[in-house]
Amino acid sequence: MNGITGSVLLVDDEINTLKVLSAILKDNGYDVATARTAEEGLDRSSRDVFDVIITDYRLPGIDGLMFLSELRKKSPGVPVVMLTAFGTIEMAVEAMKTGAFNYISKPVNPDELLTVTREAVSKHRLLVENISLKSQLRDRYNFKNIIGKSDVMQEVFNLIETVARSNSSVLIAGESGTGKELVARAVHYESPRSDKSFIPIDCTAISEQLLESELFGHEKGAFTGAYERKSGQIEYANGGTIFLDEVGELPLSVQKKFLRFLQEREFLRVGGGSRVKVDVRIIAATNRDLDAEIQRGNFREDLFFRLNVVRITVPPLRERKDDIPILAAHFLAKYAAANTKVITSIDSDVIEAFLRYDWPGNVRELENAVERAVVLCPSGMITMPFLPRAIRELRVTRTDGGEELNLVETEKRLLLRALEKTAWNQTRAADVLGISRKQLRTKMKHHGLLPEE
Ligand SMILES: Nc1ncnc2c1ncn2[C@@H]1O[C@H](COP(=O)(O)OP(=O)(O)OP(=O)(O)O)[C@@H](O)[C@H]1O
Ligand SMILES: [Mg+2]
Repeated sequence: MNGITGSVLLVDDEINTLKVLSAILKDNGYDVATARTAEEGLDRSSRDVFDVIITDYRLPGIDGLMFLSELRKKSPGVPVVMLTAFGTIEMAVEAMKTGAFNYISKPVNPDELLTVTREAVSKHRLLVENISLKSQLRDRYNFKNIIGKSDVMQEVFNLIETVARSNSSVLIAGESGTGKELVARAVHYESPRSDKSFIPIDCTAISEQLLESELFGHEKGAFTGAYERKSGQIEYANGGTIFLDEVGELPLSVQKKFLRFLQEREFLRVGGGSRVKVDVRIIAATNRDLDAEIQRGNFREDLFFRLNVVRITVPPLRERKDDIPILAAHFLAKYAAANTKVITSIDSDVIEAFLRYDWPGNVRELENAVERAVVLCPSGMITMPFLPRAIRELRVTRTDGGEELNLVETEKRLLLRALEKTAWNQTRAADVLGISRKQLRTKMKHHGLLPEE
């Protein structure tokens, strides 16, 4: 952002306050716009994007609170900070209830102004990134529909490009849901074979005999039910690529036949006949540790060497969390379009929760979480309640930032404020807060602000 720390819209009817606060913010690198009324503020905020809007509570015409609730509707992602008069805790409470990001009491302490502004800007930046990412998605972070900006994924992209030019067999390793099939397709579609077929074979799905005939075809009468001669997928893939998905599941008998095919580049259909010669490239994928399978005798070492000429390892999502915001933006765009919904952003809290979560199901799990949220969310912005419980709850247990905890934190903050402003005079602090001294003491105890008697 070229030295600009963030953009702030300041709304206050007192010209002096505007001058003083703008000066502080500008001195600290912020880009500042000002407005004297809520109406003017609404107009400005509809024309420009601000990282934070700081507004006075008392404004002529539409007051600060109404202004705040309009802003929540019109620009739900932009944090609003409310300036409240000294000693009026009720205003602060109302502002927080209406969805203010924070409040600052007047006269404004410059350090507090800068701290709160910095927090608000960083919250907003996480959200905005999510929207502006969409344009980046179209270019360098999108390689054949594989999204990734992390260094490890950029390396994967480079490797795909390099191996695509060759005819070598490729083994793609990675946990479930990391995008192995996408990588396999990218290798094929980047290769000189791209105008021929890419044929995926699921090595888990079918029985040994069916798998063999699926791959190599069969002659009429080769086995019960083989009424016709049938070509196998390897023949159909001639000139193109065969993708052996979950190759670790390939039965040993089929492994043997496949190895012979790789050595000779020709094979016999099930049930004999003449030899069939084809030109196919082999890409295989596995989420198993093939070395261990070799040790256990479940996988032929010689076949492994034939397949593992070039290895592409797709790292789990938890090891490339940089990719999470951009992936989330990608899936948001995809599912909002598919469901014809106007959902344009993801709340920064949600992105933070995504960044904390470990994603055992990898990118597939993230994709499902975003799809689900898009389906549940009526419009606007995806927020915490639309997340699956596992991701939402992690936030509460692992951090102090949960919704529930925020309420507690806010109460504690208000207590402290009232106490500080009354030099810890409990009777006066209780007055300011509009509660009895006894209630105040109970709350103080609850928040650990009273030494245990
Ligand atoms: N980097 C990525 N960019 C965009 N979409 C991705 C990415 N990685 C994975 N996906 C999506 O996640 C889902 C799972 O990807 P894919 O099927 O390629 O994973 P896989 O590694 O083959 O998983 P499995 O081992 O379970 O078969 C797909 O819907 C895919 O489009
Ligand atoms: Mg797969």
